[in-house]
Amino acid sequence: MNQKKIKRIGILTAGGDCPGLNAAIRGVGKTAMVQYGMEVIGFSSGYTGLIHKQYVELKEKDLSGILTLGGTIIGTSREKPFKIVTEEDNDKPDLIKQNYHDLGLDGLVCIGGNGTMKTAHLLSKIGLNVIGIPKTIDNDVWGTDMTFGFDSAVNIATEAVDRLHSTANSHGRVMIVEVMGHNAGWIALYAGMAGGGDIILIPEIQYSIDKVCNKIQERYDNHKPYTIVVVAEGIEHPKSMSAARYLSESIQARVDAEARETVLGYTQRGGSPSPMDRILATRYGAHAAKCIAEGNFGTMVALIKNELTTIPLSEVGGKMRLVAPDNPLVIKCRSMGVSFGDE
Ligand code: F6P
Repeated sequence: MNQKKIKRIGILTAGGDCPGLNAAIRGVGKTAMVQYGMEVIGFSSGYTGLIHKQYVELKEKDLSGILTLGGTIIGTSREKPFKIVTEEDNDKPDLIKQNYHDLGLDGLVCIGGNGTMKTAHLLSKIGLNVIGIPKTIDNDVWGTDMTFGFDSAVNIATEAVDRLHSTANSHGRVMIVEVMGHNAGWIALYAGMAGGGDIILIPEIQYSIDKVCNKIQERYDNHKPYTIVVVAEGIEHPKSMSAARYLSESIQARVDAEARETVLGYTQRGGSPSPMDRILATRYGAHAAKCIAEGNFGTMVALIKNELTTIPLSEVGGKMRLVAPDNPLVIKCRSMGVSFGDE
């Protein structure tokens, strides 16, 4: 009888890196090995490794000492195997299918953001046993209350806002701090609230520069010595400069004040994950291994009301979890006089 007992699974990390990827790899790998006796391989550089059959066999010892490490030990890329640009791209889905079968895989764990989940769904449609794990500092993956990476990014951004208060106060300046988030303003909202920002600008709420300046002027008129503006990179602004630079120039042209900008950039994506992200990534990873053992494929692990669950990948792809204008945090901020630049 040709009965295969040991399950063999692949893991990949795709899209932008973020704190907690190694914690998730470790969570999947250790649970798969220790609890379910599975073999585990890690594909190099996201979907690129799957296309070119580039991978490493992962043993338990390879997963020791990585919980606290930033980045991803198996590398990542923004490869999208279903995106056809040249003629060779047509072969990628077939190559992936072939490699998956040649390597004797019973399952594939794809760790990534919205783009990664979209590809994971397409792979599941061509017959691969796929489980997704949502990660991104942007916290914008649809179908889960929280992605890992977000908490670490908020901690970094909050510390930056905290540190800007002293210079703002000493010089009586407007300090503008730009955080990541092209479409979603989660980092700006959380770091703005945690850091006591006076103005929070996010892509989901249309701001007016006049209203931003009115708020700054009103603060000076009320003897508030400075203003902290927390802005998401994706707010409407000329593409020739950063959002923070644009605000700084526009404010100085309209208000008699000194403005300075700080763009946090990739510092928000680097370094060791926060304890909350380590825990979330580990929970997701361990749950994904359980899903494989139980044959729960074509799904993404998710956290809803702090309970681990799964959601069909077909429901996730192509959607984005944005900040609703009536989000409870937005309402609380407004009730304390924080401006979103719209009123
Ligand atoms: O991972 C999400 C994100 O951090 C965005 O907020 C950011 O704009 C983007 O990735 C930039 O990433 P890269 O330069 O690696 O493409």
